[in-house]
Amino acid sequence: MEVIILEDADEVSQVAASIVADIINAQPRAVLGLATGSSPRGLYRELCSRVQAGEISFAQASGFALDEYVGLPREHPESYASVIAREIVGPLGFDPHHVHVPDGRAANLAAAAQEYDDAIRAAGGIDVQILGIGTNGHLGFNEPTSSFASRTRIKTLAPQTRKDNARFFDSLEDVPTHCVTQGIGTILDARALVLVAQGDTKAASVADAIEGPVTSFVPASALQLHRHATVVIDVAAASRLQLAAYYRHTYPNKII
Ligand code: F6R
Repeated sequence: MEVIILEDADEVSQVAASIVADIINAQPRAVLGLATGSSPRGLYRELCSRVQAGEISFAQASGFALDEYVGLPREHPESYASVIAREIVGPLGFDPHHVHVPDGRAANLAAAAQEYDDAIRAAGGIDVQILGIGTNGHLGFNEPTSSFASRTRIKTLAPQTRKDNARFFDSLEDVPTHCVTQGIGTILDARALVLVAQGDTKAASVADAIEGPVTSFVPASALQLHRHATVVIDVAAASRLQLAAYYRHTYPNKII
């Protein structure tokens, strides 16, 4: 795992955007895994600036959202289908037909989740999966004790996750109770993982994920099992890492 500690959230966005931009420039038809939430917003904004500057293009790329709430109408402003359309597909210039979001309103949710996992495979797999991390260590909406072998499926949101995400809704009661999320096994199949985190509210889960034991109790610790995982964080999110000085040395002194 490569851990990149940067001064602030802006630098996190720029460095993470460069990782994604390098992949898209090398493979214009790359398949992206798309996290939502606040952590990758700056990264998407930075990618948008580079699209506007003519440095990169997502016109031939495709995308698969990491997760979706169960039960929210697609048109709800906080459904991930809406967020992805508003903040990613439009600004980055994806072909909307090439960007997929799990169906959280399907009559048969389990079958739709399985079809979504199959569609990722049929597309050739994800080249780069963009990720955030929950304050409870969740990855996607794989809450603590999710199996590392899990595939896209329905999950019950942890009380902590509903509390954390209440800021996007009018009240805690309005936060959905369930979701459909790519499984940890699905996420680990991606050829590259890029996790971004900012702020001290993420410091504990970031430290557990990077330096703690590999355990389903901290789903993001599954990153330790991946051959090409990069964690891009600011100093506040890195504040509980024991080997922070080492990571700060390795990044500028990297031999490629
Ligand atoms: C979002 C997702 C979640 C978030 C995590 C952090 O698609 O799967 O794992 O990345 O809850 O959320 P923020 O970034 O809002 O702090």
